[in-house]
Amino acid sequence: MLTSVSTMSRGKVPVSAKNGAIKLVAGNSNPALAEAISSCLSLPLTKAIVRRFADMEIFVEIQENVRGSDVFVIQSTSYPANDHLMELLIIIDALRRASARRITAVIPYFGYARQDRKAGPRTPISAKLVANLITHAGADRVMTLDLHAGQIQGFFDIPTDNLYASPVMVRDIKDKFDLSKVMVVSPDVGGVVRARGLAKRINAPLAIIDKRRERAGESEVMNVIGDVDGYTCILVDDIVDSGGTLVNAADALLANGAKDVYAYITHGVLSGGAVARVTSSKLKELVITDSIQPTEAIRKAANIRHLSIAPLIGEAIGRTASEESVSSLFD
Ligand code: R5P
Repeated sequence: MLTSVSTMSRGKVPVSAKNGAIKLVAGNSNPALAEAISSCLSLPLTKAIVRRFADMEIFVEIQENVRGSDVFVIQSTSYPANDHLMELLIIIDALRRASARRITAVIPYFGYARQDRKAGPRTPISAKLVANLITHAGADRVMTLDLHAGQIQGFFDIPTDNLYASPVMVRDIKDKFDLSKVMVVSPDVGGVVRARGLAKRINAPLAIIDKRRERAGESEVMNVIGDVDGYTCILVDDIVDSGGTLVNAADALLANGAKDVYAYITHGVLSGGAVARVTSSKLKELVITDSIQPTEAIRKAANIRHLSIAPLIGEAIGRTASEESVSSLFD
């Protein structure tokens, strides 16, 4: 049972709340991550009911007093994206009407992020629409992780913290690899900044895969920019969805002499036949985070492993509550 707390323990350092008692509320998208964050903060989840009526409308009831509280709603807008987004909006509405002092939408995986520009005439910018919905529902702040494009922060007119999984990945990479033999690889030109950031942290060289379709109807050519011969390659990206980008990139790297290929990807969307595609690929290992709750198939896959970002998010929540710097987490 959660009691109103004005202090909490973050590791061994007690942190005082500056915006009312701190409360954590979880939607249904990733209960395991919400529990893990709650345990990192030694702060139980606030009792809440998030369930369906017979016609599948969502019903939310916050079962504790949140008046004047600093509330963090943990919900990834992952598959089924529309249901999880709607849950998030309704939870925020319930909290606002219950007089929470401040509401932070903690969205470890921000769905719809890839629809961040007009890709063609008469198409929507759905990421902006989703940002508007979250803001209008009553969120005061947003905290998210490895946004598909950093500029999406500007879609919100409320403070938005974009956290990075790279410190968690770097720790794992340093534990597992001989860094003198590692090359970081961006699987496409769009991901170079992200891959370069990680390469810098482990002092490794960087290669880039340039995908080109020379003529309409011809298959894509994968040009590897950089000499990967003899290196252990680590592909770095924000999302693995169908797994196509990753599996093709692994093939191209091995064809160019790479010794073996691993991948560190923040968000394991892994839809459709992606898990089978990855398990039957030449990838030695795919490492994802738990920003999206891993399915049974992912948990059982021999070459997929996940790292928890709960301590990172817990720390960022603690710092937000006590008005400390969040960006210095990534210095
Ligand atoms: C694209 O810009 C993203 O960064 C990922 O590379 C992409 O979403 C991966 O998709 P898939 O796994 O379906 O190839």
